[in-house]
Amino acid sequence: TEAIKAGLLGLGTVGTGVYRIIEQHQEDLKHQTGCDIKVEKILIKSMDKERSVAISPELLTTDYGDILNDPNITIVIEVMGGIEEARTYIAKALQSKKNVITANKDLIALYGGELLTLASENGCDLFYEASVAGGIPILRALVEGFASDRITKMIGILNGTTNYMLTRMAKEKLEYDFCLKQAQELGYAEADPTSDVEGLDAARKLAILGTLGFHTDISLDEVKVKGISSVSQEDIQYGKELGYEMKLLGIADRRDEEIELSVQPTFVAKSHPLAHVNGVFNAVYVYGEAVGETMFYGPGAGELPTATAVVSDLVTVVKNLNLGVNGRGMVAPYREKKLKPENR
Ligand code: NDP
Ligand code: HSE
Repeated sequence: TEAIKAGLLGLGTVGTGVYRIIEQHQEDLKHQTGCDIKVEKILIKSMDKERSVAISPELLTTDYGDILNDPNITIVIEVMGGIEEARTYIAKALQSKKNVITANKDLIALYGGELLTLASENGCDLFYEASVAGGIPILRALVEGFASDRITKMIGILNGTTNYMLTRMAKEKLEYDFCLKQAQELGYAEADPTSDVEGLDAARKLAILGTLGFHTDISLDEVKVKGISSVSQEDIQYGKELGYEMKLLGIADRRDEEIELSVQPTFVAKSHPLAHVNGVFNAVYVYGEAVGETMFYGPGAGELPTATAVVSDLVTVVKNLNLGVNGRGMVAPYREKKLKPENR
């Protein structure tokens, strides 16, 4: 069979990881899909930047047309971030019958519904596993693993940057600004880290979890949000003395059919497993009526962990291409939404 060709939008932290995994795991990917998978073109902003991975210069372009108008490219992987440009590029790709994979929670939390409709109208896949909790395959777990159950509650540490900061502030008594800078240097933080520290990134992820887990359409403005920017070293150490760890928790609760959604810094008792989720790690507790309590744990950000989620989506898209079933597995939200008064 001919190689499957993908266009990569972005070669930063995540894009570099995606490129590396596709190169390094070529044989395994071929074993699973029966195809060679090749990155055909990579869209970047600046041609002058030094890259941390060896890439032949003819792969790079600053013109999206080189990807959009190449009929051999059947899959577009968006890992550039931002909202409006990414939205336009993805919409154009779908309209050109190209399947799309994205790690962009900012975009999916706002326009996921619209883009999924466009994907299904065009018979294309649109997958976004990397958008929530980095390397943890939590969206697959919700959509496939719990397809038989009714999820009643999800509690998550959903932002790697803030969990990394809170951990270092708690354990090493380091200052907030220093910890944030380190998280940025490690590639965990968003281009504008305000969305990490003010809780918006976690709220976006919670809206995506709520939409998939509760089969309803949760919008970002329905999540109550408070970040960690006002959390002090004193607060953290005071909690520790009393047996608590400070964590930024996202909670989505569907009790008595009413949905409640919040992101806020919370003291978690040391006896609870979430208190022991440290550094860039994330965790998601999922409660189902039939299954009871489950917990998912793993790295929530960073180059290779996030890239595994993207490339696993790629494998699914390629398998669907082989079967000719792209765009057919999508289920639109169907449940009526009743929000708790404070979330309306
Ligand atoms: P980076 O800032 O590291 O990389 C962004 C890349 O996209 C760069 O290569 C940049 O080009 C390119 N780019 C940005 N805007 C444009 C544009 N308008 N036109 C062309 N190229 C553009 O971002 P990350 O890799 O950290 O994040 C990418 C996405 O993945 C974001 O949506 C983010 O939220 C999401 N994500 C990130 C995670 C992480 O751990 N970092 C984890 C999960 C999701 P150039 O190199 O030339 O500047
Ligand atoms: N900035 C995000 C975080 C990246 O720190 O969790 C992963 O989505």
